[in-house]
Amino acid sequence: MKRPANFVILLLCVQMSALNAAPSAAVHEAPSVIPMPVSMQVKAGEPGFSMSEGIKVHYSVSRCEVGRAAIRAFMAAGLQMIPEENEGELTVAIESGKGKEWYALEVTPQGISVRVGSEQALHYAAQTLAHSVVKDAEGLPALPCMQVEDEPLLPYRGLMLDPCRHPQTVEQTRKMLRIMARYKLNRFHWHLADDQGWRIEIKSYPRLTEVGSRREETPTLANHEVGDGTPTEPFYFTQDEVREIVAYANSLGITVIPEIEVPGHSSAAIAAYPELGNTDVPGYAPRVATTWGVLPYTYAPRENTLKFLENVFAEVCELFPRAEFVHIGGDEAPREQWDNSPFARSFMQQNGLRSSGHIQHWFTHRMAEMMARHGRRIVGWDEIMDDGEVPSDAVVMYWRSWVRPCALRRALRAGHEVIQSPDSHFYFNFSQGKLPANPQYKPHGSLTAEQDWRHVYSYNPIPENLTPEQRRLIIGLQANCWSESIADGRKLEYQTVPRICALAEVAWCAPTLKNEAEFLERIRAQYPWFEAQQINYRREDGSPAL
Ligand code: ACM
Repeated sequence: MKRPANFVILLLCVQMSALNAAPSAAVHEAPSVIPMPVSMQVKAGEPGFSMSEGIKVHYSVSRCEVGRAAIRAFMAAGLQMIPEENEGELTVAIESGKGKEWYALEVTPQGISVRVGSEQALHYAAQTLAHSVVKDAEGLPALPCMQVEDEPLLPYRGLMLDPCRHPQTVEQTRKMLRIMARYKLNRFHWHLADDQGWRIEIKSYPRLTEVGSRREETPTLANHEVGDGTPTEPFYFTQDEVREIVAYANSLGITVIPEIEVPGHSSAAIAAYPELGNTDVPGYAPRVATTWGVLPYTYAPRENTLKFLENVFAEVCELFPRAEFVHIGGDEAPREQWDNSPFARSFMQQNGLRSSGHIQHWFTHRMAEMMARHGRRIVGWDEIMDDGEVPSDAVVMYWRSWVRPCALRRALRAGHEVIQSPDSHFYFNFSQGKLPANPQYKPHGSLTAEQDWRHVYSYNPIPENLTPEQRRLIIGLQANCWSESIADGRKLEYQTVPRICALAEVAWCAPTLKNEAEFLERIRAQYPWFEAQQINYRREDGSPAL
């Protein structure tokens, strides 16, 4: 039977009754939206909706739940709203039978109608409108008359930041969230613990931050083999700051996915609580790492380690209530300490583990069970698959583009959902090509390939020859911004912007819609926003904007 229900409207906030609304002068300028909506029809040359005074919101919209959510989302996107008016220029409706991130817009000279699949999509409707404000024939701000219907290709569109190698302030993190929201990214992957620093307050283990949040020195930017000889100040996010950032991200339509590395990249935690490591290996002397790269310290497969992880992740789950996934790291865990530890060797024997790699496998299963008890699923870097099957609901974050057989294909064949962040395209710490003369801009990473926005834009997230089921398993795309060479916010912005625009477009739009020359024009249309936000974006000649 044909469903008549596509247009069933569950919740509707008020009619527009903007009889007095003044249309704008004719609008000739075309809007420039990133990522490009799936369908966008613009009536050029006709009067549009005047944005000189903002959008009047009728009382009844302000009093309806979805209406209030719309006002918040529109204001967060920078649109001016005039609430509690007798006349209204906005209607908001939630429609059943649509995807959560689906939205449709209709702009006329009298008003704006927004329909969404869920409140989440109000953020996307708001951003599309914010990108679409242009100048009318009199030079005043206006929206052209238009109809938009839009929905993303991939449900997880993320950016990872690493405050472990170099600190990132709360304010800088908030700024990065605003940039993400502008381009409809919806997941902030926050890498909060690594060898070089533990960056989140855990009340039940105060030494994690007392000891783990500072180090004796840091490799210099000019030469990573040489330390700067300067102890760092303690740096970590208090639980109040974490809550503040999580709430701020939520207000922008972004969910924060925390990452605590298990079982490798854990020197800072083991320095704080040495009993967590492989205490019986020769020369055991854990400390917060002062070099980059892969360090030998891994957690020991003991009950007390599991208890520690249980307690830490319990606090983490409480701080990140909306995170459906918790990232457990899992990359680059060396086996050498387990091989050299009499305790780890006897543990392997007792548990029938064939090799030390299976200790990581054991940890991954324990973490998955632990997270399931909190109603969460684990995400891990693609190494989690290297030593045998992991729980089928574990999400694999694909990063090792060079490993064969391809980790992406392996994950899909094993039936795992996958978030792609291959280092061949989405390592925003890598070089973008021509560098500014300033040595502070030297990038990190051994790959010589230049990953400028064009390279990012060329990526096809849906590889050839997938079955429909495998296609469905590709849930996301993410860029990673490791911070070994990113010592401050200006460099972070330079590495991220405008590549983030290309990431957003590739994650949102069907690959068949891509057009590099036309996309460049839309990037250029973003420059005034970058400038208004004081973003140190990378200019076309490779120089930093600020
Ligand atoms: C990684 O770059 N080690 C995930």
